[in-house]
Amino acid sequence: MSFKKTILVTGGAGFIGCHLVKLLVNKYPDYHIINLDLLTYAGNLENLKEVEDKDNYTFVKGDIVDSAFINKLFETHDFDGVIHLAAESHVDRSITDPMSFIKTNIVGTVNLLNAARHNWGDFKGKRFYHVSTDEVYGSLGETGFFVETTPYDPRSPYSASKASSDHLVRAYHHTYGLPIVISNCSNNYGPNQFPEKLIPLFINNIKHRKTLPVYGDGKYTRDWLWVLDHASAIDVIFHNGADGETYNIGGNNEWKNIDLIHVLCDVMDDLLGRAKGSSRELITFVKDRPGHDRRYAIDATKLKEELGWEPTIQSEDGMRKTAKWYLDNESWLENVTSGAYQQYYEKQYSTKVS
Ligand code: NAD
Ligand code: TYD
Repeated sequence: MSFKKTILVTGGAGFIGCHLVKLLVNKYPDYHIINLDLLTYAGNLENLKEVEDKDNYTFVKGDIVDSAFINKLFETHDFDGVIHLAAESHVDRSITDPMSFIKTNIVGTVNLLNAARHNWGDFKGKRFYHVSTDEVYGSLGETGFFVETTPYDPRSPYSASKASSDHLVRAYHHTYGLPIVISNCSNNYGPNQFPEKLIPLFINNIKHRKTLPVYGDGKYTRDWLWVLDHASAIDVIFHNGADGETYNIGGNNEWKNIDLIHVLCDVMDDLLGRAKGSSRELITFVKDRPGHDRRYAIDATKLKEELGWEPTIQSEDGMRKTAKWYLDNESWLENVTSGAYQQYYEKQYSTKVS
């Protein structure tokens, strides 16, 4: 079968990647979507059951840190575009193990950039899209927003590794003329997020009546974006964004952690038929995260005005949908927390180019 375009998505078995892959495979039957993922603890092919048998979808297991493997993959497939999401993504893990973030997020990104540079001829019709985070801009005070020109000021090993990869993607654009686009997005939430991040962790803990560890005073602020809105923004930017540009993506949806946790507790009480207020009793203030950024907030005006994208879901609705998804998908939650899916898929796939 011949396709109009072949697109490499990296990290497509992860939280955001799986929603993006499903969107692209379903919306563009004339594109061949190749999903490259190492299936770390955060990656899970169960997230992609809905598309695994489609003719325009292929999964490849592999490591972006392995430069020979990445080169071979680019020699085997004539990719028209790369949408690069594969990363180590959790701030707390970056504090205990920075090196795996340096390897995957920085070295892995450079391996992909080099493979694109060496295999893409005169770059005509090609595009390298780096999916990044608002955390590269550092921390805000009580007021103000991150815009695309906000100077970088990363403060955790995670955000420093993402800032570094953003800089390298831009450097390949300026130095070699590689066609690139970058987006910096706020905190995502929704189905299929590994239960180490705030919202799924707390849903899981509430379900099992375990304590809810709130870092510091709980007044840290994040702008929460429904994950399917992020996937739709990536689609719009990949197709219509201007070469070399950066776009901020946000939810217009700022919450102090403690206020969001209160809403989540109340939604869970309602869904589980528990007495109102009982889940709030699980809240426990614990020692703060080292270097914890106080506030993130995105100004996504450029994306709205230039490309017409806006978020569709506000957080109370989204939180109810998210909580309901986790309650309806108990076996998913149990299997990801026990590593059962990883053991299963480990047997199905070896690291090979196909
Ligand atoms: P995730 O941790 O859920 O998924 C990451 C995926 O990358 C997993 O499937 C994992 O198996 C894969 N992976 C990890 N190391 C790999 C390697 N060496 N080779 C190949 N695959 C590898 O992450 P996510 O939350 O879906 O985030 C995806 C991207 O979006 C990341 O680049 C992240 O920095 C960015 N981002 C995330 C958020 C958020 O709120 N989650 C917000 C803004 C930007
Ligand atoms: P997280 O989901 O780890 O995302 P990020 O650090 O990338 O913003 O955390 C979101 C917010 O919730 C952040 O301010 C840290 C806080 N937090 C807690 O208070 N307790 C927790 O157990 C976790 C995981 C996060």
